[in-house]
Amino acid sequence: MAHLLHIDCSPRSERSHSKKLTREFVEAWKQAHPGDIVSYRDVGCNPVPHVDEPWIAAAYTPPEQHTPELQEAIRLSDQLVDEFLAADIYVIGSPMYNFSIPSTLKAYIDQIVRPGRTFKFEPDNPANPYKPLVLGKKMFIISARGGSGFGTGGKYEKLNYQTPYLATIFGFIGITDITFIDLENDESGGKELADAIAAARTQITQLVAG
Ligand SMILES: Cc1cc2nc3c(=O)[nH]c(=O)nc-3n(C[C@H](O)[C@H](O)[C@H](O)COP(=O)(O)O)c2cc1C
Repeated sequence: MAHLLHIDCSPRSERSHSKKLTREFVEAWKQAHPGDIVSYRDVGCNPVPHVDEPWIAAAYTPPEQHTPELQEAIRLSDQLVDEFLAADIYVIGSPMYNFSIPSTLKAYIDQIVRPGRTFKFEPDNPANPYKPLVLGKKMFIISARGGSGFGTGGKYEKLNYQTPYLATIFGFIGITDITFIDLENDESGGKELADAIAAARTQITQLVAG
């Protein structure tokens, strides 16, 4: 029995392509794996706070030296990290915003990329100071874009700071088994969008079937 964590970050509801497709992915997954546990977090509609000065002080102070104030400053982050680490599989929906990810997803990432919890910082080993701690997991990322040509070999590939960034940051904490399902053409609509949705659905069906 595996634990799947489903994360969305579009602030849209029914109009969101990424949310529609992550929902379809998770429904198909539940049918194929009825015993699996699913948790859901929507940071688009319920954003997590940005990190602030007390958060940084707490995250970079050893837990055994935490005052009650520092414990409180890091409490939500600890809960988010606990939830993240409890999962074996992640399904993340992410729009492209201004060539990158929505700031709500970035705020979530800042909360869970934590020294001592999701990565290890070893300053005494300057050749290799960072060690990932989130190992043996699998991730599926459904990315939605208004335009097109941001994928490998595409006209705007170099402007894509969305999927390369997600691969980098989740790889940094140890999640290297990541599959991307890209849905482009929200802005053109019509047949181009319909074809893109159909292709994404086919990919989802194949991925869930394994
Ligand atoms: C603030 C904002 C910035 C956007 N920036 C881009 C962009 O840089 N490139 C792009 O192709 N689409 C861009 N879009 C379009 C979205 O990526 C597209 O509408 C996508 O489908 C949104 O995801 P959702 O359908 O899950 O809400 C942007 C949309 C918004 C609201």
